[in-house]
Amino acid sequence: MQTSERRVTDAYAEYVNPQWVKLLSLLEMNVSYDRCAGVELFTVDGRRILDFLSGYCVHNTGHNHPAVISALKDELDKSGPVMLQSNVPELAGELAQLLCSLAGGRLARVFFASSGSEGIETAIKFARAHTGRTALLSCDRAFHGLTCGALSLMNGEYWRKGFGPLLPETAQIPFGDAARLDAELASRKYAAFFVEPIQAEGGIRIPQNDYLRAAEELCRRHGTLLVADEVQTGMFRTGPFLASHHFGIEPDIVVLAKALSGGLVPVSAVLMSEPVHRSVFSSFKRSLAHASTFSENNLSMRAGLATLDVLQEENLGERASERGAELRRKLTDALSGYEMVKEIRGAGLLTGIQFKAPDRMALRLPFEAFAKVHPAMFGQIIVMRLFRDFGLLTQICGNDFMVLKAAPPLVVTSEQIGQFVSAVEQVVAMAHHPGSFWSEALGLARRAIA
Ligand SMILES: Cc1ncc(COP(=O)(O)O)c(C=O)c1O
Repeated sequence: MQTSERRVTDAYAEYVNPQWVKLLSLLEMNVSYDRCAGVELFTVDGRRILDFLSGYCVHNTGHNHPAVISALKDELDKSGPVMLQSNVPELAGELAQLLCSLAGGRLARVFFASSGSEGIETAIKFARAHTGRTALLSCDRAFHGLTCGALSLMNGEYWRKGFGPLLPETAQIPFGDAARLDAELASRKYAAFFVEPIQAEGGIRIPQNDYLRAAEELCRRHGTLLVADEVQTGMFRTGPFLASHHFGIEPDIVVLAKALSGGLVPVSAVLMSEPVHRSVFSSFKRSLAHASTFSENNLSMRAGLATLDVLQEENLGERASERGAELRRKLTDALSGYEMVKEIRGAGLLTGIQFKAPDRMALRLPFEAFAKVHPAMFGQIIVMRLFRDFGLLTQICGNDFMVLKAAPPLVVTSEQIGQFVSAVEQVVAMAHHPGSFWSEALGLARRAIA
């Protein structure tokens, strides 16, 4: 690493987050990147990494798409009105119209914000205002964001620890259990039921085909709003524009973020029905009852428009469906003989490889020893090996450490998919021999404890 880069990393470790730098270094993933394009990341020391994480589904159009960059440069060159907070931001209207037409159903109004969590906070407020109820329901293993309201919808102890008390009157029920949902909603106290149509951090969990339609029907019957968190699954990630479209549901509110601005500018969008919107913006006196300084800023709106243009022009939804099916077919062929591979599942280019504990004693002993050090240990070693030995960036799911996620940009090629599958197979094969994979894991465990 050159001296100037070392200084940048040191400043980050000193002033931003030393623990993150330590963790990356421990996993041998603390490299400096020079340039990123499409699916490829180039390091300053000349390595090429293939990105199969996409910043948790931010980079659907690929890194630094030239059309999005050019739209942003044009926007800056205009020196137009930005964040006057006293005019009608026209680009926001254009983007909102396009989003509603792609989303369809009852979604007819949009509130823009700057992050997924802020989108969830917005949905909480609008749902409460519309129903006059205060309680909020969500699912076990969900991920909705880390601001206090969004965090209140999650039951992961890792995320909640030390931050309470969170919002009262929140509850989580098993994902996919319509009977349990019915029983909860019958109390008629819930303003909204928040659900990811396909749970991403929960382990790429896809519900039974009729679950979400049943959920929609139950929500209507009991006067609760259905909120689809499509922060990871939206923007053609799973094939259609929304994962909700797979299941034929029409949510009252949909939250989009991450990929909406081509991975270049923060933005989120809360799409909702007209009656829900009217509950907050009910008169001109209430026209600013919910607002946010950076909402509707020209750069985010322009990036959103350019990103949607690329996604549609390049048929990236169709490509996600085709390449995703290819990826799962190839992974299934390559991994079916390995006892620790339980299932390969997904939709579009959101795929999970579910691992399980080995049966063979020679593997079971080290596996259990590492699980005791940290439940994420096994998955992190797979991630580390893929990165270090094969130049592939991926991660395990935040709320299920036994699931390796594969979510490349939607521009991924068959050849890159082939490289990924071959690398995963080699690492999985290593994990099935009581050799270097496990001795390396032991070294990592020792360093982690130290
Ligand atoms: C499904 C889902 N919802 C909400 C969020 C929160 O988004 P943000 O990190 O932009 O606040 C995330 C973030 O990963 C997410 O995956």
